[in-house]
Amino acid sequence: MKQVSQQKIIFVTGKGGVGKSAVAAGIALKQARASRKTLLVELGYQSFYEDYFHLEKVGYQAQNLKPNLDLALWSGPECLKEYARHLLKVESLYRLFFENSVTKALIQVAPGLAELAILGKVTSHPRRVGPPLNYDCIVIDAFATGHFLALLRAPHGMAEAIRFGPMGDQSRSIEKILKDPQMCEYFVVSFPEELPVVEGIELWQGIYDIVKQKPVHIFNRVLDPAEAAMNAKAPALEPFQKYLAKVSTAETNLYNQLKMQGEVHTLPQVFSVDAWDVVSQIAEALP
Ligand SMILES: Nc1ncnc2c1ncn2[C@@H]1O[C@H](COP(=O)(O)OP(=O)(O)OP(=O)(O)O)[C@@H](O)[C@H]1O
Ligand SMILES: [Mg+2]
Repeated sequence: MKQVSQQKIIFVTGKGGVGKSAVAAGIALKQARASRKTLLVELGYQSFYEDYFHLEKVGYQAQNLKPNLDLALWSGPECLKEYARHLLKVESLYRLFFENSVTKALIQVAPGLAELAILGKVTSHPRRVGPPLNYDCIVIDAFATGHFLALLRAPHGMAEAIRFGPMGDQSRSIEKILKDPQMCEYFVVSFPEELPVVEGIELWQGIYDIVKQKPVHIFNRVLDPAEAAMNAKAPALEPFQKYLAKVSTAETNLYNQLKMQGEVHTLPQVFSVDAWDVVSQIAEALP
């Protein structure tokens, strides 16, 4: 098997509906096209990409999507189960602990446990824990705003609660990786409307407060009024040109607000209903 370079872990978050999944897939596709073995991961129980890319079934085990690009769906309980299997080694012991209703219920309610398990899996390769995750790059189509901050807070919370033993050690090692700019990058997606931008700015600060890393803003679905349309001299076009100019000014104002926090990548509104077309054009527009 090809040895991979130092693995990069990229988190993509933002307000609901801003294009997190499309952007995450675009980032992953760009990496794959650059010959980096890439895993695109969605979090939770329900796959979005299954419908989006017309796939038969998306599950915990990675499946191939495109050259150098795999896809998987990771839920908290499944990540925890895999970890426990690896830790306990003996299958019957594993069943005793995990295949009973009390433990199942505990996993659902224990604060931060599902989140910790997910981040444990996400960071398993650099920590050399669990089955190998042989990818150059892992791109996480992560939770939206509040849930994403809860995810990032989980290791620190757990390390505070359990100071000794393997659980505390694991939590601290996960936290260390999340804070390492050589390993993890954070992208906050928004689009040119007041609410997503305000939420994006708050989320940027929230991430910075937890991991002390500056995320990159992705300003998605920006309408770039074609120069030709703006400069055309036709009276019938005037109201439309005025409208476009207004949109453009509003977009610039919102862009400038994001820019005050640092790096911003702008992505165009893609005019296509084909998912791969959208994702592919996003990949091409990324710097
Ligand atoms: N730049 C773009 N150009 C055109 N369409 C886009 C662009 N970005 C996203 N979309 C489309 O917008 C829709 C919503 O995007 P997406 O599902 O990625 O958002 P999301 O933030 O992941 O949503 P959710 O919060 O529900 O997970 C999708 O149909 C997607 O194809
Ligand atoms: Mg999504």
